[in-house]
Amino acid sequence: MASFIKILGLLLLPFWYFIESFFKSCRDLFVPVSLRNLKDLSAEVALVTGGGAGLGRNLAIQLAELKVTVVTWDIDQSANEETVCMILDNGGSAYAYTVDISNPEAVYAAAERVKGEVGEVTLLVNNAAIGQFQSIWEVPDDLIQKKMNIIAIAPFWVINVVEFY
Ligand SMILES: NC(=O)c1ccc[n+]([C@@H]2O[C@H](COP(=O)([O-])OP(=O)(O)OC[C@H]3O[C@@H](n4cnc5c(N)ncnc54)[C@H](O)[C@@H]3O)[C@@H](O)[C@H]2O)c1
Repeated sequence: MASFIKILGLLLLPFWYFIESFFKSCRDLFVPVSLRNLKDLSAEVALVTGGGAGLGRNLAIQLAELKVTVVTWDIDQSANEETVCMILDNGGSAYAYTVDISNPEAVYAAAERVKGEVGEVTLLVNNAAIGQFQSIWEVPDDLIQKKMNIIAIAPFWVINVVEFY
């Protein structure tokens, strides 16, 4: 009987989460951010890799809106600096570093600079990637290697150098 109740509970749990997230989404739609009881993130320093474009840029901007100090790493210097300008123009705090995250030496050097110039990183968004959508058999060998280096291996270099409290 006890295991039946346990299984029933597990089966009902997704419905509970669905209802909970539905009501939370409704609240987020109608209650302004300033009136919500949000966690204070103003002491946090977020490192966003690939902050020069796409999701990374959007995340960097949104984190800065929540008063987080943002450090963005990107191989594309001008795009990365553009993200930081957007944040600064919006009253936020951000720092751009040009880093190829697939190069561990570059990652270690950038991490040292960030530690000295900005402080300890407390949030990490491992986001950088090469996003070309094509069939596997159409991807040249060198691009497969490059993709794996950036998407699968580089996050380990980054995690290695980030010191969390
Ligand atoms: N966009 C989507 O629909 C989607 C869907 C699922 C998952 N994702 C994932 O989200 C992440 C971001 O996707 P996106 O579409 O915003 O990508 P994007 O191509 O728009 O941006 C990726 C950023 O990473 C940077 N970058 C690439 N190689 C780098 C390197 N070696 N070192 C440092 N920076 C480097 C690029 O310069 C670029 O600014 C990726 O991990 C992707 O797999 C995206």
